[in-house]
Formats: sequence, C-alpha cells, structure tokens
Amino acid sequence: MQRRVFVTGGTGFVGRAVVRALLSGGHHIRILARNPCALRKINPFASGSIELWHGDILKPSTIEGAMNQIDAVVHLVGIISEVGNVTFENLHSRATKTMTKIARDAGIRRFIHMSALGTRPGAVSHYHQTKWAAEEVVRTSGLDYTIFRPSLVYGPEDHFVNLFAQIIRHSPFVPLLGRPTALFQPVPVDCVARAFERALAAQTSTGQVYDLCGPERLTLEAMMKQIIATMGRRRILVRIPQRLARLQARLLEWLYPVLFNKASPLSRDQLVMLQEDNIGNGEAAEAAFGFRASSFQEGIKSYLAP
Ligand SMILES: NC(=O)c1ccc[n+]([C@@H]2O[C@H](COP(=O)([O-])OP(=O)(O)OC[C@H]3O[C@@H](n4cnc5c(N)ncnc54)[C@H](OP(=O)(O)O)[C@@H]3O)[C@@H](O)[C@H]2O)c1
Repeated sequence: MQRRVFVTGGTGFVGRAVVRALLSGGHHIRILARNPCALRKINPFASGSIELWHGDILKPSTIEGAMNQIDAVVHLVGIISEVGNVTFENLHSRATKTMTKIARDAGIRRFIHMSALGTRPGAVSHYHQTKWAAEEVVRTSGLDYTIFRPSLVYGPEDHFVNLFAQIIRHSPFVPLLGRPTALFQPVPVDCVARAFERALAAQTSTGQVYDLCGPERLTLEAMMKQIIATMGRRRILVRIPQRLARLQARLLEWLYPVLFNKASPLSRDQLVMLQEDNIGNGEAAEAAFGFRASSFQEGIKSYLAP
C-alpha cells in the first residue's frame, strides 16, 4: 500500500538511502530540509512522488503544517558532534518532542524513529544519553512507533569508511582511536533503508525496538585492516593514546566552528563511545524485514576496490 511519508534527515547519508528505498516502494515523500535545493542531493531526477518542505527542526514554527495529509513519519535527524545551539539535547530529545507533537496534532499514528545502538539508561556518552531520552519521548508519545538502533552504518556515501579511506589515500599512517578490544557490528546502509521501508507496512513492528547489525563483530583495527586491504594499499596503523586523542579532539572542537563554521569530525564524546562495544542482535530485524546483511569486506568492496 502506498503511503504519504514525512521524512526528517532525508538529505543525510542514511536519509538519502531511506528516501530511495521509500521511492522504490512507491510511496509519496515529503522531506524536511534546511536547504531549498536539497532534493538535487538526493535524486536529481526526482519528480512527482517527492516534495520538499523547507524548514529547520530547531525552529518549530517552520514545521507547522508540514505533516498535513501525511500518513507516517520517518524521523532520522541526528548529529554526532555538537556546534553552537546544534546540541545533542536540542537535536535528539527536543527535536523528537517537537516531531511527535506535530505528528499527533496532525492526526498521524505511525512514527518510525532512528536511534542508535548503545543507547540505554545511564549511558556514558552524551550522544547515547540524548538518544535514550528521544526514545523515551517516542515510547510515551501514544503513537504507533517502531525504533531502530543501528551499529555503525556504512555504504558508498558514508562518513566513517570514506573518512579513513581519505586518510589511507594520503598518509602512510592510519590513526587508531578508542579501546583496542572494542567491538562493532557494521551494517550496510541498504539494509537499514530496507528495514525503514518495510516497517511502514509491517503492523507487527509497531511498539518494537530493533537492533540493526551486520553479521560480524569487528574491532576498529580489524575494520581498518579490511579497508586498507580492499583498497590494495599497505599502511602502518598507529594507536593514539586516549589522552592525546582527547587533546586532539578538544582542539578540533574549538577549531572547526571558528574556521569552517561546522562541527568537528572528531569529538571527545565520540572518543567516549569508542571505548565501548557497539554490538547487538540483528536477527529480529532480519526476520521481520527480510534482509541478510553482507560481510563488511564484501560491502566495502563495491565502493573502495581499486
Ligand atoms: N551513520 C551511522 O553510522 C549511524 C549509526 C547509528 C545511528 N545513526 C543515526 O542515523 C541518523 C542519520 O545519520 P547520518 O549518518 O545519515 O547523519 P548525516 O549524514 O549527518 O545526516 C543528518 C541529517 O539531519 C539533518 N539535520 C541536521 N540538523 C537539522 C535541522 N536543524 N533541521 C532539519 N534537519 C537537520 C541534516 O540535514 P542537512 O542536509 O541540512 O544538514 C541531514 O539530513 C542520525 O539520527 C544518527 O544518529 C547513524
């Protein structure tokens, strides 16, 4: 059944994949975007079934009326580093409060929410704390919600693998941050997108929280080795002590907003997260939405192989 879906964060890395999956499912999409030219970023050929609502989630007045004649909301907005008033608190918990309220006021029932693996009560990082607060907002909203918690998401337009691929292209040394034994379960963005698209129709996913994880548990070092091997390079991995990494992150957090007017690509909060395992159980999502994630090395081949 075709639905009219309001999507926040549709211009981001995960959002673009989710939007493409929704389009191929035949749904009509309305995207919230701060930049009025954002549609070109998603699909330069987009026409009838996709429209843009120009607004900012931090300015609720710009979203008034945005959900009129909409059947479901896919709420993806999130940040990994803070800058100015773009804080975890504002973008995760407050923005989710705004979105659930506007959805309720517009008479919408279905709300599909993007969280993150590692979120829990008493989480250590501010990112995970505010993702938890946002989940609680969704759970108590009275809406028919589904919550997804992915581990590290990767794909051709990702932030993480591509950042390290850039470093590998230009430097003989590759920095290793975080706890050496910390484990991740990288998941392909296509699987994440499919889960969101299929959840729209799956009544049984209402009221459920799903981990989205790949089939392997890998350390950062193991992932780096696979990225380097896939690119056909030889590089030296250099472990950065936590104290030095924190100093570096602190400097970047100060420099990036001043020089580039944007958030730092590395923050002290991210370093906290890199101390923890980021693993879960993706079986329930795979069974509910009918996908099987490929291995990390198989997945990155499509965009990193020389
Ligand atoms: N990538 C991962 O590995 C991963 C893992 C777990 C969970 N997640 C979660 O998945 C979601 C998407 O992540 P991503 O990697 O795709 O991030 P991303 O590429 O940085 O995308 C963030 C999106 O949020 C939008 N946004 C930011 N501030 C906004 C505002 N004030 N008003 C309206 N829109 C705003 C951005 O719009 P602009 O285009 O205007 O900037 C963009 O569409 C986030 O909630 C993230 O926490 C991601």
